[in-house]
Amino acid sequence: TGMFTFDPGFLATASCESKITFIDGDLGHLYYRGYPIEQLAEKSDYLEVCYLLLNGELPTAAQRKDFERGVMRHNMLHDQLMSLFKGFRRDAHPMAVMVGVVGALSAFYHDSLDISNPEHRRISAHRLVAKLPTIAAQAYRYNKGLPFSYPKNGLTYAENFLHMMFSTPCEEYKVNPVLARALDRIFTLHADHEQNASTSTVRLAGSSGANPFACIAAGIACLWGPSHGGANEAVLKMLDEIGSVDNVADFMQGVKDKRYKLMGFGHRVYKNMDPRAAIMKQTCDEVLNELGLHNDPKFKLSMELEKIALSDPYFIERKLYPNVDFYSGIVLSAIGIPVSMFTPIFALARTVGWIAHWNEMIGDPGMKIGRPRQLYTGAARRDFVEVAKR
Ligand code: CMC
Repeated sequence: TGMFTFDPGFLATASCESKITFIDGDLGHLYYRGYPIEQLAEKSDYLEVCYLLLNGELPTAAQRKDFERGVMRHNMLHDQLMSLFKGFRRDAHPMAVMVGVVGALSAFYHDSLDISNPEHRRISAHRLVAKLPTIAAQAYRYNKGLPFSYPKNGLTYAENFLHMMFSTPCEEYKVNPVLARALDRIFTLHADHEQNASTSTVRLAGSSGANPFACIAAGIACLWGPSHGGANEAVLKMLDEIGSVDNVADFMQGVKDKRYKLMGFGHRVYKNMDPRAAIMKQTCDEVLNELGLHNDPKFKLSMELEKIALSDPYFIERKLYPNVDFYSGIVLSAIGIPVSMFTPIFALARTVGWIAHWNEMIGDPGMKIGRPRQLYTGAARRDFVEVAKR
């Protein structure tokens, strides 16, 4: 042994070069293709950010229109995919359904799976960005027993998602622009985050030459864990468990005794405020104002938790600050999105980042299959012993 650098959890190893996203963890800054996340969240929208991540530049007005048309025309699902949903138990977690259905997309597009062909890669990226909201919404509807819904042209990406989630055959969902804008912002803030666990998973899966739908399914599977994309769901479950402001002190003692973690706090890279959390907090305020929910007990409880954590030496010493998921869960819940859909929403927003990284990697002529080494710590060489003699 000793031949390899030992770096479990990749605390000090760069796995690739990338031009897509830059994080300055000490300062708490995040840039997509050089643009600060604050400016994109304020002035741009999700589809434009998708174009930026995939192509490296902001689109002109004409490019933007073309891109929107080019993506949105792929937002329907092949009708035979619907029977796939029906093969799942009704109470299946929507993330389980998404892993399956997104993986299955590769069986529908055999004509465009030549990954050495940039045009095929572009179409796959458009298909994924367009179909993920439809797949997520149908996973929800199947679980609820609602009939499948269809995307509607003329709506924005976020409006369309709300429409597919909540409209019924007897009633059109009236999209509230403040809520649609908040959701669009959640999508933008989650669109990419350089080499996090799920993006690294997509790259590693893709490094073998696997097709993009299989790679994104692998990313979704990784994202599901509570230390990663599952955190937004875990935040709401935690708020439910704490129940009321009176129990916060006891709960915090349990965190400090390391019996459990304060979900929605801490980050591997940000050792200062997560800039996405600052934007999300403001959006949270806008949404709660719009809906008159400022006195909502769950919201009050989360503000109390935040206040106590930010002034507690345990958190200060360890540089633990709220991350994006601390607030996004509260916003989604105020919009009326059930907790089980929080991580699917993260997945649909992150798909563009995953596919941008996959494309960057495949397009690199120096690409090699990812193959980490190990330090072997098992038994030394020994001879086989017949079963009767063991
Ligand atoms: N609550 C209480 N203590 C914590 C927390 C927390 N949320 N996060 C870290 N710590 C402690 C940890 O126990 C350790 O203490 P000590 O030094 O005494 O052993 C110290 O802080 C350093 O933590 P770490 O586990 O070495 O940090 P990491 O970089 O390996 O983990 C993390 C980062 C995000 C997995 C972790 O902070 C965590 O589990 N947070 C809660 C889950 C969460 O909110 N995840 C969402 C991340 S943002 C969205 C995304 O990327 O998906």
